[in-house]
Amino acid sequence: MKLVVCKSYEEMSEKAAAIVAEIVKAKPDCVLGLATGSTPVGTYSKLAEMCDAGELDFSRVKSVNLDEYYPISPDNDQSYRYFMNEKLFDKINIDKANTYVPDGSAADPDKACADYEKIVDSMGQVDIQILGIGQNGHIGFNEPADKLYPLTHVTGLTESTINANARFFNSIDEVPTKALTMGIGTILRAKKIIILANGAAKRDAVRKMLDGMLDCSCPASMLNLHSDVVVICDEAAYN
Ligand code: F6R
Repeated sequence: MKLVVCKSYEEMSEKAAAIVAEIVKAKPDCVLGLATGSTPVGTYSKLAEMCDAGELDFSRVKSVNLDEYYPISPDNDQSYRYFMNEKLFDKINIDKANTYVPDGSAADPDKACADYEKIVDSMGQVDIQILGIGQNGHIGFNEPADKLYPLTHVTGLTESTINANARFFNSIDEVPTKALTMGIGTILRAKKIIILANGAAKRDAVRKMLDGMLDCSCPASMLNLHSDVVVICDEAAYN
């Protein structure tokens, strides 16, 4: 794993956006793997600024998101589809028909996961996957467990994740307790992965990931199996 420690959230976001921008410029029809959550918001703002300034063209870019709550409708303002539209897709010239998020409103969630895995496969390799990391070391919604799933699946959210995400909802009771998420294997198939972390709350998870061992109690440690991972974090998340 390559490690880049930044002075601030701003610098972390700039570095991440610069890596993504290089890929979009070099391969205008690339496939981006995207994450939601607070961490990549600054990166998405920078990418939108570059698009606005005419430096980046997303018209041929496709994207696949890591995960979505279940059950949730795409027009619910807490859904990850809504988040992606608001934070990125509505601000760049991407064709929304080429943007994919697992279907949190599907009647049959297992089928929705199998279908999503096929969608990801049908795009060829994801050129760059952006990840955040949970305080408990999760990536996507692959939570710490005795066994980890390789492919897209339905999962229950842990108490730690429900508590961490409660800040976005009116009350903790409104936080969905399930999600559809790419599996560890789905994530590892990406050509390149960048994982972003800021703030002291991520310090333990970052330390476990950087330890170099494979530990199911820190799903992000599975990224040690990949040959091109860049960890971009601020000082608070690293020290
Ligand atoms: C979101 C996702 C999650 C988040 C993680 C960190 O699509 O897959 O793994 O990246 O929960 O969330 P934030 O960035 O809000 O701290």
